[in-house]
Amino acid sequence: MLRPDEREALVAAALAARERAYAPYSHYHVGAALLLADGTLVTGANVENAVYPLGICAERVAVAKAVSEGRREFRALAVASETGVAPCGACRQTLREFAEHLPILLVDAQGRVVREVDLADLLPYSFSAADLPST
Ligand code: THU
Repeated sequence: MLRPDEREALVAAALAARERAYAPYSHYHVGAALLLADGTLVTGANVENAVYPLGICAERVAVAKAVSEGRREFRALAVASETGVAPCGACRQTLREFAEHLPILLVDAQGRVVREVDLADLLPYSFSAADLPST
């Protein structure tokens, strides 16, 4: 369960991260914030590129930042966008690598939580490391 203060901080961090989006091609700004097991926050924003397919979503930036700093225990995620959209399929699978159930707050540009979903509901029958044959 998220405490109200944790929830507030998570939403604020996702909104602030959205301000740092680099999206000169789509003009679609997204911010993400991960709440880690130790209570700290790691943020991400989408980073696009003139070679369009190289652009990366806010959620995957946040995951890469956290994991590359040795932090893999995620408690919750907030994603801020204009209308509070849900993570794309690639981001869902990337998140699934580190969490089966993960509360995700979908936040609009005004900071309203328009929906709260669990990762498992966004990615049912998911594939994970547990499905790979052990060597
Ligand atoms: N984008 C994200 O960063 N996260 C999402 O959940 C949806 C899409 C980005 C990718 C691209 O830079 C822009 O939004 C438009 O698709």
